[in-house]
Amino acid sequence: MQRRRFLQAAAGGLIGGALLPRGALAAADDRATVLLRAASGLYRLHPTKTGPSTLMQFNASIPGPVLRIPRDRETVVRFDNALDEPTSVHWHGLRIANAMDGVPGMTQPPVEPGRSFDYVLNPPDAGTYWYHTHLRSWAQMALGLAGVLIVEEDTPPAVDREMVIAIDDWRIDREGLFDDASLGRLHDWSHAGRIGNLITVNGKTGTRYEVRGGERIRLRLVNIANARTMSLKINEPLLQVVAIDGQPVEPFAPRDGRITLAVGQRVDVVVDFAGAPGHSSTMELLVRDDAYAIASFDYGATIARESPLESPLRLPPNPLHRVRLPEEYLQVPLRMQGGAMSRFSGATVDGREMTVSELVERKLVWAMNGVAGLPREPLFRVERGTAVSLELDNETSWPHAMHVHGHHFVRASAPGIWRDTVLLGRGERDALRFVADNPGRWLIHCHMAEHMAGGMLTWFEVT
Ligand code: C2O
Ligand code: CU
Repeated sequence: MQRRRFLQAAAGGLIGGALLPRGALAAADDRATVLLRAASGLYRLHPTKTGPSTLMQFNASIPGPVLRIPRDRETVVRFDNALDEPTSVHWHGLRIANAMDGVPGMTQPPVEPGRSFDYVLNPPDAGTYWYHTHLRSWAQMALGLAGVLIVEEDTPPAVDREMVIAIDDWRIDREGLFDDASLGRLHDWSHAGRIGNLITVNGKTGTRYEVRGGERIRLRLVNIANARTMSLKINEPLLQVVAIDGQPVEPFAPRDGRITLAVGQRVDVVVDFAGAPGHSSTMELLVRDDAYAIASFDYGATIARESPLESPLRLPPNPLHRVRLPEEYLQVPLRMQGGAMSRFSGATVDGREMTVSELVERKLVWAMNGVAGLPREPLFRVERGTAVSLELDNETSWPHAMHVHGHHFVRASAPGIWRDTVLLGRGERDALRFVADNPGRWLIHCHMAEHMAGGMLTWFEVT
């Protein structure tokens, strides 16, 4: 029973990952196994416009199935690539072994069509994470290869229910079909990334959730889009943020009720639903001065309790919270450069100086520390246990969602909050501080998929 509960991969109406009985792979192997398969498939994105689009799916589902795995125990995800191109799976935010990080060419060869790869996950921290392709993600992620990964707390927190809310944006054409023709456009790469014109919540538009008055629900909000930063407002008065990027925080009410999620970021909120039977409240996406309802919470006829709970819910701390940050750091400057409307005058590619026009020809329109694309040498190489301060300076005219693999960090400007992805506005500077305690080679990149493909990535090594 326990094992089944842990492995239940279906939640929130999503199609689940198939579950193998214990021992199906190898007689002596009692690790839980989850099957994950990438394949092309048809999916209707727009509810009323014409037919389905051909997308890329995990387990024939958009988004991929919600995977639930235990903390501090091994789970094997047997991944099959049934696409007709290579791919891989990256486990965003998990502090796991480098060989399981899913970065082709760095931690593993790409998984070729018809081949499989066993990802052995042994995550130390409970929380809300996600998984996605890490190859040609500007296309493969846009086409659907992403899903939510939950690492369960040892003891489930005291909420009535939880809901997983994966928000995506798609670019569709006039027919309502996935707009293939716009994939890879230089304009998107050099500007804000490929921003969509259709927002889905768990793969659907107009999603409605039934709730009950007084019910306490944990919402796991995940931005799985390629590039769009989402500013959300849930029109409920009793709402507290309890975790950011998977890591528990001291509960707080967001300012103006606004929750901002850059691509790759997660926020867990606890909502004590305060409306009466028959009431309905909305979740809105705020875009400049407009608000678009993207989901609604409809109150049923019965109530869960007379009045909503008031005491905040605190999630138990993760092992990460035992990491002590020192006074002294190895300071590593990281200048973010390039893009439209910048003073970009050239960069080095594979050790060769290139002019802006040579770079544009190769679609390398972003750089870090003067290097466009993955450098041969790491940004820094340190011994395990070294405290690092990444001194980011966004010299570009665009915001970027910077992500560090295999580690969580605190911003110098917001101590106490651990993150794995941070949104840096144009011209903004901040230092990301962490202890490099996970051996291996790890990426640092902008998570706006077109910016990463356009050259905004580097790496470091922990020996
Ligand atoms: Cu969500 Cu390089 O990762
Ligand atoms: Cu970026």
